[in-house]
Amino acid sequence: MRESGGFLDDVLVGLRGEQKTLPCKYLYDERGSQLFEDICELTEYYPTRTEFGIMNTFVEDMARHLGESVLLIEYGSGNSRKTRLLLDAMRAPVGYVPIDISREILKESASAIEKRFPGLEVFPICADYLMPVSIPEPGVLVARRIVYFPGSTIGNFKPDEALEFLKRVASQVGEGGGILIGVDLKKESGVLKRAYDDRKGVTAAFNRNLLARINRELAGDFPEDKFRHEALWNKEQGRIEMHLICEEACRVTLGPESIVFYAGESIVTEYAYKYEVEEFQSLASKAGFTPQALWTDPGEMFSVHYLDVTLSAG
Ligand code: AVI
Repeated sequence: MRESGGFLDDVLVGLRGEQKTLPCKYLYDERGSQLFEDICELTEYYPTRTEFGIMNTFVEDMARHLGESVLLIEYGSGNSRKTRLLLDAMRAPVGYVPIDISREILKESASAIEKRFPGLEVFPICADYLMPVSIPEPGVLVARRIVYFPGSTIGNFKPDEALEFLKRVASQVGEGGGILIGVDLKKESGVLKRAYDDRKGVTAAFNRNLLARINRELAGDFPEDKFRHEALWNKEQGRIEMHLICEEACRVTLGPESIVFYAGESIVTEYAYKYEVEEFQSLASKAGFTPQALWTDPGEMFSVHYLDVTLSAG
């Protein structure tokens, strides 16, 4: 993921490279977001239900670590389903700041949270959380700021981008603040590949929808039926790679440019990095965080970490 120069610019920059790429954030138009919700329900896509299971089992312990009078900030809050579990268990949280790019989803979920937690100040922010966002101050004393970043979205960043992101979070929460983050773990490659290439073809539709979006919004002429979905496990890099493979040579016109594809050429549309627990902790430590607690499921498929910016002595 990288900062945006506008949809057309981002697409053209990605398609000019030797290895063609498209930024994964554009997978999420209305249809893409719906398809992603469908992915989360698939048998093969274990991360969502596994993280829910971890939250259900350990939410009281998590709330104990977060402490009282917390300002909870959520990046990419979406429908805030996991957050409700957390807010239910937290002790006297003073505010909730959901940040999401989709105004509609944000409005709905913020008002649902306000109804359910009447004493809680809710400050919805409609923004791309990859850009700097200034966090509002509630009218009451805040003991600490905590960022909640579930879903293993951190896996969609390259490691250097993940480090930059975590550094930004560390400076946003400040000393004594923390992050509660969901991180998908490395595991047998077959399980990983099936999670990103399901039998019903929902992930394939999600991936190929990006071409439909480009054709519709940027007046492109991608022959959508000539591109097929592929998910690869790149062991060396520790990541799943989603590709769109062009099955027949073709030429695509987009804005002022004409882009040639040879038969078999791929476009990378998303990376999903997987971590060992220690790998993630070491990355977060470089960003200024100290691991405080870790929760996993019995199969050790997924992890939820609490890390803080430890107060320096004196
Ligand atoms: C949003 N993100 C954490 C998902 C993932 O697992 O990397 C996106 C996704 N792409 C295909 N399936 C799910």
